[in-house]
Parts: sequence; structure tokens; C-alpha cells
Amino acid sequence: MAIPPALLDRFDPSDRSFIADPYPALAALRDAAPVFYNERTKQWVLTRFTDVYETLRDRRLGRVYTHRFTHADLGRPAPDPRWAAFDEHERWSLLQLEPPDHTRIRRLIAKVFTPTAAAAVRPAATALATDLLDECRQRGQFDLLAEFAQPYSVAVIGSLLGVPRADTPLLLGWSHAIVKMYELTTSDDQRAAATRAAQEFMDYTAGLIAAKRSQPDGLLVAALASVEEGGDRLSDAEIISTVIVLLNAGHEATVNTLGNGMRAFLLHPDQWTRVTSGEVPARVAVEEMIRWDAPLQLFERWILDDGVEIAGQPMAVGEEVAMLFGSANRDPRRFPEPDRFDAGRGDTAHIGFGGGIHFCVGAPLAREELTVSVETLARLLPDVQLAATPTYHPTFVIRGLEALPLAVGDG
Ligand code: HEM
Repeated sequence: MAIPPALLDRFDPSDRSFIADPYPALAALRDAAPVFYNERTKQWVLTRFTDVYETLRDRRLGRVYTHRFTHADLGRPAPDPRWAAFDEHERWSLLQLEPPDHTRIRRLIAKVFTPTAAAAVRPAATALATDLLDECRQRGQFDLLAEFAQPYSVAVIGSLLGVPRADTPLLLGWSHAIVKMYELTTSDDQRAAATRAAQEFMDYTAGLIAAKRSQPDGLLVAALASVEEGGDRLSDAEIISTVIVLLNAGHEATVNTLGNGMRAFLLHPDQWTRVTSGEVPARVAVEEMIRWDAPLQLFERWILDDGVEIAGQPMAVGEEVAMLFGSANRDPRRFPEPDRFDAGRGDTAHIGFGGGIHFCVGAPLAREELTVSVETLARLLPDVQLAATPTYHPTFVIRGLEALPLAVGDG
């Protein structure tokens, strides 16, 4: 199971050539071993589909350990007080909770954020996508991310929650600063910016909740503020964390899926033709966009119980595991010809939305929103082409393009 050091060195999220195309290095690591130790991050790293799939469902691991242990118990540093506001903003985020708190809060959220609510965005999302892409078509050359995907996705989640449209640029700025905290390489300047953004976002959300309480509009923030089950309700701090995680998670990955996926289509024009001709429905193509170039490449878990062994590797309580989603989604043991971008593959069992108790609560919305985007692109811009070679943000965990410059007609 020992991997040669030269191969381990290829897993380097600070290296721009690795970021540009991590898949050859991930394939070499995955072939060499199902699990390896990353000295840089002090994590066990899982490379194969089955191990990632099972680990997501293994209740002996958790996204956090603080419900079971103190930081001192596990020999971990106490939280840095400089980033206290950051920690506070996600204190009650589903992603920071394990049962019983996770079960309780997820149940209350699921009462108001339902697949039916997600499906109901279709008409408004189609109208918005049509307007924005019509404008892009008229301009001839445009950046699909800045001029379509971002405003579209933020407006959709904002309209579901009841955030005034004029405020959506604020949300984009805050979430871009906040997500830097989830990378493997984060500078203190980025931590400080993320913490400022978290404080501003909390203040804004507290105001929004107060406004919805005095004038309920039937949308999600108002619903979260009043949801109740058997006398149980969400506290203000829980509502704030929930609104922020829904707003942030509600557009970052969706925007990157559209960017990464449309890049894939334009590098494989035969596959784009299968969509524009109607041979492959947009809904089917979306699954391959998520699988082939995952917008979220890595998720972590802590070992909470004794006796855990993954892929034959014993792991001790307090050790951390990193699951490589992008690698799992390209594992030939699970997907035939995994490097082939096949719009019609139709395999919804990829790992893109996670699994187990933290399975993406927004998956129905993400699927609906992306399907509408691809349908509208195929309808209005079937002849779209790359106008320049796009480059990826220098981040690994959240994988997305800096811009996707496209052209139509004579553009
Ligand atoms: C293509 C777009 C998306 C992708 C690929 C994605 C992926 C994921 C993944 C992998 C997880 C599980 C993380 C883990 O197990 O550690 C997750 C959780 C979550 N996602 Fe998404 N997501 C997307 C869109 C959305 C949207 C649109 C929303 C909300 C509006 C959303 C809200 C959430 C929330 C709240 C969680 C936490 C669930 C929990 O911990 O119980 N996501 N997402």
C-alpha cells in the first residue's frame, strides 16, 4: 500500500498545474492505493468510489467531533479567537452538526425546504434564464459565469428564500469570501476576510428574519422563522446559520457545475450536439456534468469510535479522513470508461451530492436549476463556442472556473 513519494508529491493543491487537470494524478494515486496519508494536511485520503461511498454512510465517523470530545481530548488546538465570528455563523449549520442536533434541525428544515418547493422554481427560473441568455446572445461574446450562472443561481435561491433581488450582489461577495475557509491552503488574510464576511452576513440575516416576522411573505426565511413540530422550533441562531448555509451552498456549487460542465461540453462538441438535438435530455446530461468534473472535490470526516478500518487501514479516534469525490467519480471500478464525457450516461449514483445523513439537502433544487440552464442554453445558444481557454480558480476543494468566455454567431 506504500505509494512512492514522487507520486504522493503529485497531490499538491497549491500547484496550478495540478489544479488545471488533477485527474491524471488522481488516477495514478487511485491505481496505486485506495488510501494514503497526506503529511501536509495530516489526513488519511480515500481515492476509490466504494470506500468513499461507505465512509459517507459510516456513523462511526462525523463531520465534527465536538459533540463527543473536547479539542483537548483529541490533542487538537482550541479555535482561534480571531475567527470567532466565522465559527459563530456556522455554529448551527447542518454541515457542522451531528445527531441528535443534526437530526432535529434537518427535520425542521425538510418540512419547509421540500422537493416540491424546488420543483416550483421551474417557471420563474426558465423566464430568468431566457432573459439573461437572450442578452448574452445579443452581446455575441460573454462570460457565462459572471453574466449568466451567478446572477441566475443567486436569484433563484434568493427568490426561494425571499431575499430582495437588489441585495443579491452582497450575498455573492460574502459567500466568495466565506468559502475560502474550506480550502486546504488558506492564508490569514483570507481567514480575516471570511470572518468579516461572516459577521456582515449574520447581521444582514438577523435583519431579514426580523423583517419577515413583521411581514411574513410565505417564502423560506419566513417559513424557517415559524416552522414548528411537536412544540419544537428553530432558535434565532439556528435560523441564521441555516439561512446562510442555504444561500451559500445554494449557488456556489451550482454555478461551478454549470461552468465546469459547459466547458466539458465545448471540449466535446459531439456531446453538446446530442443535447441540442434532443437525443439526450438536459436532466440526464446534468448528472454527467457533476460526475465528470465535480465542483466539490473533497469532504472530510473525523474518526469518532475505536476499531475503524477503511480499505484495510486501521484509523484511530481523532484522526481525519479526506474523501476525494472527483477521484471516486472517475473510478473505473464503478464507472465504465470513467474519463469519457458521455452526456447520455444517465448514472445518477455518482457521489456528487454526498451520501448518508449529510446528503445534499439542495440536490432537488440544484438538479432543477441546472436542467433549466442546460435546456435554455441548448434552445437559445446551440451554436455557442469557447472564445478563449478558461482557467480554474487556484483552489482544489471548490473546483470552478475563473470565467467561461463564450461566443455565438459572429461574436
Ligand atoms: C450541483 C450543486 C450541488 C452540489 C454538487 C452539492 C453537493 C453537496 C454535498 C457533496 C454535500 C454533502 C457534504 C458532506 O457529506 O460532507 C452537500 C450538503 C449540503 N448541501 Fe449541497 N450541493 C449542491 C447544491 C446545493 C443547493 C442548491 C443547496 C441549497 C439550496 C445545497 C445545500 C446543502 C446543505 C444545506 C447541505 C448540508 C446537508 C447536511 O449536512 O445535512 N446544496 N451538498
